[in-house]
Amino acid sequence: MTDKQLNDKSIWDEIYRKTENKPGWDLPGADPNMTDLIGKHGGKDDSMRILDVGCGNGRNAPVAESLGAAYCGTDFSSSAVAHCRELYPDRDFYIQDICADLEGTELGESGPYDVVMDCGCFHAIPPQQRGAYIANAALLCRPGGLLVIGSWHRGEGVDGNDPQYYPYLYLSEWFFNAGDIESLFGNTFELIDSRVDRDVYPGMFDGFAYFALRRCK
Ligand SMILES: C[S@@+](CC[C@H](N)C(=O)[O-])C[C@H]1O[C@@H](n2cnc3c(N)ncnc32)[C@H](O)[C@@H]1O
Repeated sequence: MTDKQLNDKSIWDEIYRKTENKPGWDLPGADPNMTDLIGKHGGKDDSMRILDVGCGNGRNAPVAESLGAAYCGTDFSSSAVAHCRELYPDRDFYIQDICADLEGTELGESGPYDVVMDCGCFHAIPPQQRGAYIANAALLCRPGGLLVIGSWHRGEGVDGNDPQYYPYLYLSEWFFNAGDIESLFGNTFELIDSRVDRDVYPGMFDGFAYFALRRCK
């Protein structure tokens, strides 16, 4: 599979369609590490606005509910977003490629946000598009705001090409550790916290990593 296919939203649409919006990575309930890191570093202000980038089927919308924050989601899969709109008719959802030019788009106009969370989207962005993702994350996150990213952890002995996990997707580039994140995001964000959780997806690779970054002022 080529990088072009990796970035093809029809692949994601097909996954959501075929699985009836239960793609498998959407564990029951909101991701507890996201809730914890945002609660810890996002502030307790009840006017807090959270943007969920690559929101998928919206399973992390309750992260905002539990923190009393406003929630908005965006994804480039129109089937995922249609599902979210049905589930949460009172919330805003945008169909948007996060690596595209956001000027004049609904998503671009909607920010900046206090918190940008991303559980499993950034690690799916092909390497040549990471710069565009990071520039847009900096645009969407207010100065002093928080960006929280969840990705496969780049630990020892990880075989990212084992096809048993996601037969659709080429995985070798999907792994990050704290040093990788610092060197990619370091011009606009400061890494303030990170952890690896080996229990969220037991037995898969070397766990799932979470990175909390503060947007530089
Ligand atoms: C592994 S899923 C995670 C979904 C959700 N965050 C969750 O935790 O269940 C990655 C999501 O990122 C979306 N995605 C991938 N590349 C994207 C891009 N360039 N722009 C917007 N969304 C993207 C996919 O459509 C998919 O819904």
